[in-house]
Amino acid sequence: MRTLTGIQPSGHLHIGNYFGSMKPMLDRQHDGDMFWFIANYHALTTVHDAALLRAQTWDVALDFLACGLDPAKTVFYRQSDVPEVQELAWLLSIVTPLGLLERCHSYKDKLAKGIMPSHGLLAYPVLMAADILIMQSDLVPVGKDQKQHLEVTRDIAIKFNNLFGETFKLPEPAIAEAVAVVPGTDGQKMSKSYGNTIELFAEPKAVKKKIMSIVTDSTPLEDPKNPDTDNVYALYKLFATPDEAADLAARYRAGGLGYGTAKKELLAKFEAVFAPLREKRAALAAHPDDVEDILRDGAARARVVARQTLQAARRAVGLD
Ligand code: ADP
Ligand code: TRP
Repeated sequence: MRTLTGIQPSGHLHIGNYFGSMKPMLDRQHDGDMFWFIANYHALTTVHDAALLRAQTWDVALDFLACGLDPAKTVFYRQSDVPEVQELAWLLSIVTPLGLLERCHSYKDKLAKGIMPSHGLLAYPVLMAADILIMQSDLVPVGKDQKQHLEVTRDIAIKFNNLFGETFKLPEPAIAEAVAVVPGTDGQKMSKSYGNTIELFAEPKAVKKKIMSIVTDSTPLEDPKNPDTDNVYALYKLFATPDEAADLAARYRAGGLGYGTAKKELLAKFEAVFAPLREKRAALAAHPDDVEDILRDGAARARVVARQTLQAARRAVGLD
């Protein structure tokens, strides 16, 4: 059973990303065959600044390794280090109906945002299909926003297999029913587009400022409070054991606990989890050659699989 997913290098990760998508995957990396890559070809559809793309790609590599991605268990690579996906994308594009791509929500959303409708933006799901099919993936964990791209991937694989003979495994999506939605400091969904994030690797001072700024209601300190409607408690619960969460909930309900105190306890939990990871990240950043070796080794392992699939696809269409 092979699990594969890609992440676009698009800025600093926050605790919504961590609890919603990273941690569930990291917890599964011991279960089987896992491929995880940094989708820098995809990022090029929106990032047109070489230094920025380079920096963001590197940041994601450090973030994931610091958070526990184990390169001995997980094949971790930069998409652009496996150029076979580009050739496969071409072979897939010839069986991809244009209408299928024009109907994709993410394409339409980007057009609505005023992003230039380049060929790359339209062809984005074909490249994604190549990422997935080239590794003969069984399971692809993605957020809800990517579900349609997986349907496109399956459609493309079926068309290719029908036309040229069985070549690709049909992948199944694993849509994370996000560990509920992690709220941001303003109570909306935490998202970098809303400016309400608590970043994983911000400086301790900045984290403290963010946590102390979480919006709460104006119940007076001595009154009982409802933990189930409070943002501080919602975040605390993510870090705490069930017993610790039950204990804080009881203190909310009893009254006499101020939101300031709850925020300090949340900060302590955050630091207990992320202070060691911050150190690990700094240690990795101090040895860029080691990180580069990990990515190159991942790409070498990924290319063994990629070459095999590409060869089969070339043979199927008559390019061998
Ligand atoms: P953002 O909204 O900050 O741009 P992304 O869309 O890049 O975040 O999300 C990357 C991954 O993190 C997705 O799989 C998504 O489901 C998960 N994720 C992002 N924000 C949250 C959140 N607030 N709660 C739970 N999961 C989240
Ligand atoms: N499009 C995905 C996203 O923005 C990233 C991605 C690229 C991906 N290729 C993939 C995810 C293949 C899963 C499988 O989140």
